[in-house]
Amino acid sequence: MDSRTNTGELSEAEIAARVEAILSKLSLAEKVGQLTQIGGLAFLPGPKPEEIIRQGGAGSVLWVNDTKTFNALQKIAVEESPSRIPLLFGLDVIHGYRTIFPVPLAMAASWDPSVVERAQAVAAKEARAAGIHWTFGPMVDIARDARWGRIVEGAGEDPYLGAAIAAAQVRGFQGPYIGAPDHVVACAKHFAGYGAADGGRDYDPVYLPETLLRNVYLPPFKAAVDAGVGTFMSAYMDLNDVPASGNRFLLRQVLREEWGFKGFVVSDAFAVGSLVTQGFARDGRDAAFRALSAGVNMDMASNTYLQHLAGLVEDGTLTVEDIDEAVRPILAIKVRMGLFEHPYTDESKLEQVVALPEHRAEARRAAQRSMVLLRNEGGLLPLSKSLKHVAVIGPLADSQEATEGSWMVFGHTPNAVTVLEGIRAKLPEARVDYAPGPEIRRDIPSWFEANMDPTAKKAPQSPEAAEAAFQTAVATARDAEVVVMVLGETADMAGEAASRASLDLPGRQEELLQAVVALGKPVVLVLLNGRPLSINWAAENVPAILEAWEPGSEGGHAVADVLFGDVNPGGKLPVTFPRKGSHEPLYYARNLTHSPEGHPMYNPRYWDGLPTPLYPFGFGLSYTTFAITNLQVSAPQVKIGDAVTVTADVTNTGAVEGDEVVQLYIHQKAGSDSRPMRELKGFERVTLKPGETRTVTFTLGPAELGHWSTNAGKWVQDAATFDIWVGADSRATLHAELTVVC
Ligand code: BGC
Repeated sequence: MDSRTNTGELSEAEIAARVEAILSKLSLAEKVGQLTQIGGLAFLPGPKPEEIIRQGGAGSVLWVNDTKTFNALQKIAVEESPSRIPLLFGLDVIHGYRTIFPVPLAMAASWDPSVVERAQAVAAKEARAAGIHWTFGPMVDIARDARWGRIVEGAGEDPYLGAAIAAAQVRGFQGPYIGAPDHVVACAKHFAGYGAADGGRDYDPVYLPETLLRNVYLPPFKAAVDAGVGTFMSAYMDLNDVPASGNRFLLRQVLREEWGFKGFVVSDAFAVGSLVTQGFARDGRDAAFRALSAGVNMDMASNTYLQHLAGLVEDGTLTVEDIDEAVRPILAIKVRMGLFEHPYTDESKLEQVVALPEHRAEARRAAQRSMVLLRNEGGLLPLSKSLKHVAVIGPLADSQEATEGSWMVFGHTPNAVTVLEGIRAKLPEARVDYAPGPEIRRDIPSWFEANMDPTAKKAPQSPEAAEAAFQTAVATARDAEVVVMVLGETADMAGEAASRASLDLPGRQEELLQAVVALGKPVVLVLLNGRPLSINWAAENVPAILEAWEPGSEGGHAVADVLFGDVNPGGKLPVTFPRKGSHEPLYYARNLTHSPEGHPMYNPRYWDGLPTPLYPFGFGLSYTTFAITNLQVSAPQVKIGDAVTVTADVTNTGAVEGDEVVQLYIHQKAGSDSRPMRELKGFERVTLKPGETRTVTFTLGPAELGHWSTNAGKWVQDAATFDIWVGADSRATLHAELTVVC
């Protein structure tokens, strides 16, 4: 019997009763099956998915993305497997299913959690219509090193912004409760610390002292738990010498005991088996034992649980209760999702859902709100719509792949409007010429390109062909009134296994930019990329620079909307742009030192170039101007545990409507530990007409003023004085003080 409340949500008691009823009928082997997620890729070794499912050896399937196949596999599970328990279909739906949204880093640049929530709700609706129940997102890893390729999948460097974006993504994917119609279960990943890989090298070990873990890397995960996320994914890498997928401290102490997480944990792909490769577990049996006892409920694709768990129970190393404890939350998610009542997916639904016009409209709006204007000398932007001849130049200008960006859904065919197409659509009467210039590609392909990307097999352009393409591009630019250069990184240059040592524009792009600027034309640089780039030359020599990120299916239209003034850009950087890759990790929330900037004995940090950011965290321009004034704190003193209100006025002082993101930063001046020189603790994006003023209000209470203390070994709130700054980026100067007393 299904006793859903009037919102459709099942009561906790009903879920628990149903889980126990199901569990009581399962054999040990069937229970182990529920703890196993199998991969649907043809090249994986071992028996085929159909066979494993038929024998009851799988509770979940990934790397399948086809409604008919979902239904066929589900039929085997519910009609032929011994337990008849339906499968949970999981897949990476990171920034859209068929309608592709900007990459997560871009959406974080909107500083608008409502945009992110709506985007993930659309992604969920399309994915669910296809038959997917569970997405492996949001990725909420803090990343302070742009060399790390996976920075593109997260919300950037800051825990406060990251937590807000993480919660919004969970709400978007899951809806009001797990099992809500048209939604999927979310998965907070990769727990935890993955973004701090040594040297930014993907998968490399991570060493994080508890202060960084607690104050910086864990808050977005905690926010996901508080937002009700159904599942977690344990990361691959070693955290302080213990692989995250065998890490009891993370998975039991922090996640379950401290945070009260009730859902289930899936390992990252093959990560249970990899405990052996990583030199932690002796063999597969030891790996299964250590992952399960650490708190990994489901083994993604390594089949280690399938091979070893039953034996571990039979010889008394594990108990049946250990297994039951791991199975319960998996069954609970299946019950919540209504899979026992509705295991199949209507095969005609996806096409109806993806055709909904609001999906493309949401994608365009999300892209518009994600864009960050980095430079606009002399007000070159917005461009006039009466231009007669525009040249659009660059290897990414007409690339659907680069426009949609990293982490496409398995098997997805790109459907993006490119920047070239967007500009042509905006200027139907004008002559819009195009030349790609020399191709760009990775020096070394990853396993993914080598095995799964047909274009990677294409022979590289010869130096002669590249030179000819270079000359054609310069010639194409020569006669135009305005040149739009679309440069950056191809989709495979950021993402998993896509770290790089340099953050320069790859290939001959900068040389081409210099040659085009030398023509003396007005040049606009549009960047398509999934990470900060060190565009030092452009920052000095190209009058207008728009960071468009990897903007998704409607990206080309959104870029044209911004370039031609239909939309005023208002995004802000969620991550610091360094001058060099070797300056990483570079982030704003560093601690002070004995030789801080401005000190009479200040010493530069490197002697071979400024280590300061090229563009700071929180930075972004607009076609209008703003003044932020009248900073008020509701009381100069507050008791520990109490809160104050901080207000400031923001006025649009320019001639057109626009958006400002008002940001609040704090610094604890002294106390039980040194604290970062600035930490974001509030933000709000507002839209203002010319001359309009709005008062923005923030709250500072124990959650914002406390920290995890190394000295105390716990969370504390100190009696201390705080600097407060409010402004338009992390260099805000409008200042007040607040004293916290006992
Ligand atoms: C990635 C995860 C992803 C999983 C399943 C792994 O390689 O690290 O982020 O969810 O594959 O596709």
